[in-house]
Amino acid sequence: MRSLLRCGDVGMTADDRQMQTATARTPGWLHAFALVLAASTLALIFIGGLVTSTGSGLAVPDWPLSFGQFFPRMVGGVFYEHGHRMAATAVGALTVAFAIAARLVETHVIVRRLALAAIGLIVAQGLLGGLTVLFLLPPAISSAHGCLAQAFLCLTVALAVLTHPDWTPAIRPPADPGLAGLTLATAAVVYVQLVLGAVMRHTGAGLAIPDFPLALGRVIPPFLSPAIVIHFLHRVGALAVTTMVVWSAVRTLRTHAGDPGVVRPALAAMALVAVQITLGALTIWTRKAVLPTTAHVAVGAAILGTIVVWALRARRTGPAATGSARTLLATGRVPA
Ligand code: HEM
Ligand code: HEM
Repeated sequence: MRSLLRCGDVGMTADDRQMQTATARTPGWLHAFALVLAASTLALIFIGGLVTSTGSGLAVPDWPLSFGQFFPRMVGGVFYEHGHRMAATAVGALTVAFAIAARLVETHVIVRRLALAAIGLIVAQGLLGGLTVLFLLPPAISSAHGCLAQAFLCLTVALAVLTHPDWTPAIRPPADPGLAGLTLATAAVVYVQLVLGAVMRHTGAGLAIPDFPLALGRVIPPFLSPAIVIHFLHRVGALAVTTMVVWSAVRTLRTHAGDPGVVRPALAAMALVAVQITLGALTIWTRKAVLPTTAHVAVGAAILGTIVVWALRARRTGPAATGSARTLLATGRVPA
């Protein structure tokens, strides 16, 4: 029956299809592939951050070629800008290869659809990258390029979670629906914080408030310019992110204490937020030295990716219940 169902949809009822989707395991290699794609995307975000931090965005003035060639001499800022284009091309090729592989072997429709969406996003991201060069780094396009990179990372992380061989589609409400909603809200707050960070970075407001933890010597600075407002909003955003992450983590420890799949991302997110605030402070104290500033961009992305894992797993019923879900779909009985 199972092999017949795998060969095609002929004669399948809706129940058959649901059972096939729930019981079929994604091959381990596709999950490994998704992990490589997500890790390469995080590395690409760090490399992109280096382009901005070193001020190399216009080191190569043309696009899609670089000085009219595929491989210009990698000197000065060209090393960062052209290197970033090469790394982006590699991640684009990986994305297309992943979507083809998913089409061939993945039974979960959602994975195949998300893989297609990933191709659309990376093409849009490449176009924004090209446009920001051709229009001489307008803040709106550069910020959108930074923000879409984070959305693309979320998609690759979701693919890694959903291709885990033990993943099954949800067939009943999560153990703690409140936590599922709370982690999603936390992801949304972090995304807003990343947008504020990107706008601050690309409007040159990174040192509009040059001291930390005080702001122009006060708790609330005088709002003398839009740059100070956007910078201060990012600091308030850090407080909101910390509150949401700690709140979600406390709830996770209360309702999922025995479920390492949910507890681990909760602890990782708290640790990463502590690192991120330290890097934010270092960005100010070092007057935007390249390494802490670029690490701040990448750890921001890592926080968002970790919360995506957390939020997706919180929507599940837990490892024991996941096994039950399989048995329920396969036999119609819930095991004791
Ligand atoms: C396709 C996948 C790509 C991803 C995920 C990506 C990601 C990023 C990231 C995260 C940044 C740093 C933003 C920041 O620090 O605020 C960046 C900067 C940049 N990227 Fe990309 N990028 C991609 C493709 C491209 C392409 C194809 C180009 C072509 C020219 C490009 C050109 C640039 C430029 C010029 C900057 C610096 C912008 C500035 O300093 O204002 N990127 N990229
Ligand atoms: C958990 C909280 C935080 C998160 C998630 C976060 C995230 C980010 C991200 C992702 C960016 C760059 C966005 C981009 O270019 O694409 C950024 C920029 C920045 N962040 Fe944060 N940040 C946090 C807290 C802080 C704190 C506490 C400070 C310290 C004052 C800070 C200072 C900065 C500065 C100065 C920039 C701009 C750097 C530049 O102009 O090159 N951040 N933040």
